[in-house]
Amino acid sequence: MNFKETVYNRHSTRDFSSKSVSTKDIHTIIDMAKMAPSWANDQVWKVVVATGKTLEKIKERHYQALLNGIPGQSEFPPLHRTGMGKQGQQNVTIWSNSLRTFLGKNAEQMAIDSAHLFNAPSVAYLLLPNSPSLWSAYDLGAFGQTLMLAATSIGIDSIPAAEFVQYPQDLHDILDVDNNYIFGIGIGLGYKKDNALINDFRSKRMNNSDFLTIKY
Ligand SMILES: Cc1cc2nc3c(=O)[nH]c(=O)nc-3n(C[C@H](O)[C@H](O)[C@H](O)COP(=O)(O)O)c2cc1C
Repeated sequence: MNFKETVYNRHSTRDFSSKSVSTKDIHTIIDMAKMAPSWANDQVWKVVVATGKTLEKIKERHYQALLNGIPGQSEFPPLHRTGMGKQGQQNVTIWSNSLRTFLGKNAEQMAIDSAHLFNAPSVAYLLLPNSPSLWSAYDLGAFGQTLMLAATSIGIDSIPAAEFVQYPQDLHDILDVDNNYIFGIGIGLGYKKDNALINDFRSKRMNNSDFLTIKY
């Protein structure tokens, strides 16, 4: 797969098969991800990959928290719609509507898969030191995108999701991470489940002219 194919093939997978990702492949992906640039090469990220029984425990706690109506609260500050500006709000509306139309009467299944953390066999949790700067969040984003492209390049599907980090206290407990670090995002890694409609959904992008200015 050349770079252009890798970029266009990456998309969010929301229903994974039970096939696990090998430790060797996780190292291959992380080796590529860590080539992301960072402020003065501070490489401020920390990564905890949960799989097997550890991830089962996280999924169980996550599901129970949802069943009990416990509100999720990520350690990154909540994203209010107003913070997205008009362009972001419009795109979210377009995305939600197209997803609803695409799924039709299967819309409920997506919520169920999400509640089960998309059935991902592995999750890479990307962490930052407590009270991070926006520059560190930039670094972590670059790391995350490189990680997902690396995964795509070796045939592994992925999804970045805030859903993975909605109950951070459980993650600190189960993954034995102290409060000097916070959970930024989780990236589900695995192989897409065949015949799952949601995996055929593709999010559209704006035209360049909607957001790009070139000044000569
Ligand atoms: C920071 C971030 C958080 C996200 N959280 C979720 C989530 O909680 N649930 C979900 O289904 N998708 C989540 N996504 C996936 C986005 O919906 C997806 O990336 C976007 O619609 C573009 O689609 P694509 O990844 O298939 O290209 C998240 C993506 C990012 C970058």
